[in-house]
Amino acid sequence: MVEQAHLREVGPRDGLQMVGTILPAERKIDWCRRTVAAGLHRVEVTSFVAPSVVPQFADAAEVARVAAAVLGIEASALAPNLKGAERAIASGVAAVNFVMSASEAHNLANVRRSRTQSLEEFARIVVHRDAVASGRVLLSGCIATSFGCTIAGAVPEADVLEIAERYLAIGADELIIADTVGYANPAQVRGLMSRILSIAGDRPVTCHFHDTRGLGLANVVSALEAGVRCFDTSLAGLGGCPFAPGASGNIDTEDTAYLLESLGFDTGVDIAALLELRRDVESWLPGEQFGGNIAGAGLPKTYRPAALAAR
Ligand code: COA
Ligand code: ZN
Repeated sequence: MVEQAHLREVGPRDGLQMVGTILPAERKIDWCRRTVAAGLHRVEVTSFVAPSVVPQFADAAEVARVAAAVLGIEASALAPNLKGAERAIASGVAAVNFVMSASEAHNLANVRRSRTQSLEEFARIVVHRDAVASGRVLLSGCIATSFGCTIAGAVPEADVLEIAERYLAIGADELIIADTVGYANPAQVRGLMSRILSIAGDRPVTCHFHDTRGLGLANVVSALEAGVRCFDTSLAGLGGCPFAPGASGNIDTEDTAYLLESLGFDTGVDIAALLELRRDVESWLPGEQFGGNIAGAGLPKTYRPAALAAR
């Protein structure tokens, strides 16, 4: 029996937040479609934020509507407030990822609310979801800056655990623990993720790492050791929060798939198909910096996907 691990592509959301090019909706949809065709578990297809704040996502409703129709249960979207969640649910996506920060300062900078106000907003979103889409739309509670903040510095673990508990009590179907600014180290990840998994019980937990200081994949290994089996990743290592100083790209999808497969976890991902998609995405985004190593070096001759290696 080969154990499975899941990747959720966040390139069309996190990956596009800071790029200079406004990508046409058809290309975003193509990116989502080809990601699922390459075997990824889920895709965060867009972000329902204020277009005046992030113009890249002015087309969120259109992208989400088409992506949800094409992708089905694989499509999720980010929302920072009730208005965003209402728009996301109306678009037909199967999951809405609500985001708030463990750092009060980053939460104020990013979503213009205190943490208490964000949790109150999440409770309103649960009520709305239950009224219009009960059993059809999953609500994820994401905790940004869980491992540290470029504005506030250290973020107490107790704050992250308290927000996780509040999310679960209010009705989050799953948790996403995010290292928004690449402050996490493997020891910190092992400790926090063990505690998060024990309070989450049977509700799924995803880790969302950025590779800002080169520890992204080391943190994945630590999270695996703690028991995490779901990871957010971004094609070509794009990504970063526009409201967190010094933020940069997510862990790279192709490299993370390669790591997980090499460790014996079946991801279902066709890395060659991702590399082909990456070439197109790079050509769509001139002037951007891309991350990851497999795209440049290629897979080793010795590489075998976990499912084949186990035979
Ligand atoms: N979708 C579309 N428009 C939205 C919206 C949403 N989710 N939330 C607010 N708006 C619009 C309002 O309609 C209003 O428009 P108007 O001035 O034309 O009337 C304007 O934005 C301001 O509304 P307000 O109620 O003051 O906003 P808010 O305080 O509830 O929320 C945020 C502001 C959080 C939505 C906004 O700061 C934002 O979108 N931030 C993006 C953060 C982000 O993308 N971070 C990276 C990912 S974590
Ligand atoms: Zn991120």
